[in-house]
Amino acid sequence: MSTVRPAILIARAVFPEIEDRLRPFFEIETTPPGVVWTPAQLVDRLQGKVGVLTTGGERIDAGLLAACPGLKIAANLAVGYNNFDLVAMTAAGVLGTNAPDVLTETTADFGFALLMATARRITESEHFLRAGRWKEWSLDLFAGAEVHGSTLGILGMGRIGQAIARRAAHGFRMNVLYHNRSRLAPDREAACKARYVSKDELLRAADHLVLVLPYSAQSHHTIGAAELAQMKPTATLVNIARGGVVDDAALAAALRERRIAAAGLDVFEGEPAVHPDLLTVPNVVLTPHIASATLATRRAMAMLAADNLIGFLVHGKPLTPLNSEVLTP
Ligand code: GLV
Repeated sequence: MSTVRPAILIARAVFPEIEDRLRPFFEIETTPPGVVWTPAQLVDRLQGKVGVLTTGGERIDAGLLAACPGLKIAANLAVGYNNFDLVAMTAAGVLGTNAPDVLTETTADFGFALLMATARRITESEHFLRAGRWKEWSLDLFAGAEVHGSTLGILGMGRIGQAIARRAAHGFRMNVLYHNRSRLAPDREAACKARYVSKDELLRAADHLVLVLPYSAQSHHTIGAAELAQMKPTATLVNIARGGVVDDAALAAALRERRIAAAGLDVFEGEPAVHPDLLTVPNVVLTPHIASATLATRRAMAMLAADNLIGFLVHGKPLTPLNSEVLTP
């Protein structure tokens, strides 16, 4: 008896073991390393496919859904899913899944690394050294900001925010403040020794402000010129959330004029393009959206996306659905 396996697209190159996991269940079309499909190419590739494994870089919106009527699921290998128009997906009967939990600790490690690099001016001083400009040692050579014992502000207190708070409070004895759409339950606040404050108080009090909130129309430019003006001139800002949460042009101006001391950015408005002004200011640490990038974690993220495709299309049970209204394959 011959059975026709459903066809899926893996929209970005993934590890071989992810393809091996999917192959027994599906006809898979893969994407070569280095290839990023344009929206039109993605529509083309999705003809005849019931599922797609996406990164945060493929937009699944009403236009694509109308052009791909056979699609039943888009499985994001990122935890953030602002590339999904969930309302349009639900209307079209297409399930979206994301990849939470598996990247929490790794991403929190990176948030802390970026905070340390920014506050202690690690990349700026390395560029100085590599350029052969280190001629003498002086007391204030690349003197940065204290991290231990300082006040950390966290904007967005989901799983990753809480993991950063635990590192800060328990490892670095920091005074942890946070602001979030909703306040944490008292036991969770106690576990990360974090105190809930208003956004204004957070901006004013933080020596270091880390952004970990999801991107949406509501969080667009949560940090712009007005918010930067509320921060201490000695403060550092770290964005591991999403481009667009910060007004990058306003931030570059604040950094150039030293209205805040420094910033560490892993995400950018319009990435992989980076606002040209950010490339010319020295007091910013720039990384190419790698907060979850350890091989173990990136494998776990891709495997969770693969297991969502199998869970939904084969067993009718996705692991981490976003719009569970759509639950019949
Ligand atoms: C990465 O940015 C993610 O959302 O997983």
